[in-house]
Formats: sequence, C-alpha cells, structure tokens
Amino acid sequence: MQKLSVRHLLGIKGLTENDIQLIFETADNFKSVINRPIKKVPSLRDITVANLFFENSTRTKLSFELAEKRLSADIINFAASSSSVSKGETLIDTVNNILAMKVDMVVMRHPYPGAAVFLSKHIQAQIINAGDGAHEHPTQALLDAYSIREKLGDVRGKKVVIVGDILHSRVALSNILCLQLLGAEVMVCGPTTLIPKYIHTLGVKVEHDLQKALNWCDVANMLRIQLERQDIRYFPSLREYSMMYGLNKEILDSLDKKIVVMHPGPINRGVEITSDVADSRQSIILDQVENGVAIRMAVLYLLAGGQN
Ligand code: CP
Repeated sequence: MQKLSVRHLLGIKGLTENDIQLIFETADNFKSVINRPIKKVPSLRDITVANLFFENSTRTKLSFELAEKRLSADIINFAASSSSVSKGETLIDTVNNILAMKVDMVVMRHPYPGAAVFLSKHIQAQIINAGDGAHEHPTQALLDAYSIREKLGDVRGKKVVIVGDILHSRVALSNILCLQLLGAEVMVCGPTTLIPKYIHTLGVKVEHDLQKALNWCDVANMLRIQLERQDIRYFPSLREYSMMYGLNKEILDSLDKKIVVMHPGPINRGVEITSDVADSRQSIILDQVENGVAIRMAVLYLLAGGQN
C-alpha cells in the first residue's frame, strides 16, 4: 500500500505532490463509498480519534466527525469553551490527559499559529491540523483543490484567484501552497492592507482590482473578512469593502467566461459574496463541503497506515 511521506498532517508545507495525488485518489474511492446505501467501512476500527477544538467550527468539526464515523473509528470530542482550559489548564496538560485515555490520533483546531507543530513535538499520537490561527488549514486546501479537479478535470494550468482577507487567512496560505504544488497559477486580490507584505516570496500574482482579477481567472475563491482576528481597522467600512471586493451577479455576468466560484465558509452574505452568486450554478460551495468528508476520510485512513 502507498503511504504518505509524513506522519502528521500539520500543513500543506511538508507534503509532496505525490502525497496530494494519493490523498485525491483515496478520496475518490471514499466518495463512492459515502454515496452507497451502506456508507461505513471498518478501516479505522480499534483506532480512537480525539477532536480537540479550541476555536469554533461548524464545517471542519462536523466533517471530521462524520469522516471518522464512516471509517468506524471511536471518537471523543472536546470543545475548549466547556472544558477545564477555562480554569487555566495548559495545552500540553489538556492533551496529555486526553492521551492517557489511549487516543491514537488528534484532530486539533487552535487559535495560535504553530499549535499543531508544537503538539507534534511533545506527544506520541498522530496530529491533524484542523486550522491553527492565521497559519494553515491543510484539509480545507485539499478539499478546495479536489473540488477544482472534480469541476474542471485537472488543477494543473488553471488560474485561481483568492480574494479578500489574505492577511488573516489560514485558508489562503494552505491554498496557495497546495495549488502551486499541483501546477496551478495563483493570484491574490484585495485591498493593500489585507495583503501580507511577504506575499511576493510565495510566487503569486497580486491584483488590487477585482474586475481585472476575475477577467484573468478560471476560479475565484472568495474569503470572509475575519473581523475576529483584526486588531485595527484595515478598511473604512464593510459597505465600502463590499463595493470594491464583493462578488455580485452583475460582475459575474459581465465576464466573457463562466468562472467557478468557491468559498470556504462561513459566508458573510452581502459582504464578500451576494446570495445570488453563492447560490448560483457557478458556485461549488456545497460541493466543497461534500468533498470535505471524503478528503478527511482519505487523510485519516492514510495517516493511520491504511489498515483494513
Ligand atoms: N471552512 C471552515 O474551516 O469552516 P469552519 O470554521 O466552520 O470549520
């Protein structure tokens, strides 16, 4: 059986193109499994997975839980808001207490960049990063690239623009690294204040005019403005942001080609994207969510060693 080159999934950084292709091929198989009347396989029987969410989540948490259940894993769930973290317990103490219960794998979302890497150096269990601050969100990037491959046949040679709050986005960095590994061209678009200064070191194009960016691309990935991570004002108002960088039907219909529209969620309808675009036939937002389960099944299965 083919194996990943990594023991943990801490980020797209560290993966090879072969790893990603292997994840996609494995996800193809699991996608057909979850469309069968009997959606469960015994691949992770006797494996215990802890889902540790130190930050809120809807899609990622539910998607990992469902993926684990479809693979017959035993699951324990932890939400920081209802735990002893509020009494001052450290990350290492919290995780070591959970691992004392004989956990094999940890899926962790944490507000601090590097939290998953830190944990991987201190505990024996395998770690999957479900988003660490503004750093990486590898399974989101994998499901995004997988959805592009499904919609357009291949990722190689495709032009993808990521629009919005690049500065505070873990989705942006993971998407850039993943898409480039797979041979796509990547552009970022947004106000200067929301584009990090180091962006050129990543080899992406930068465009501040949304219309020009959309004319260039095959795929537009619209990001949410992450107000919860913004310590200062980066633009005058949401209304102004929406006028400059919001994707609406009028702009979409003015393009001379039918681009694919993506969004990692949660959506702020009427800010970065209008409802008629989010719900249009050009949007693959719900395909992304559906593919998230197959991608996470593939990651869990491959990291666990692929045993049946
Ligand atoms: N896309 C994403 O990570 O969504 P959640 O924050 O709801 O998990």
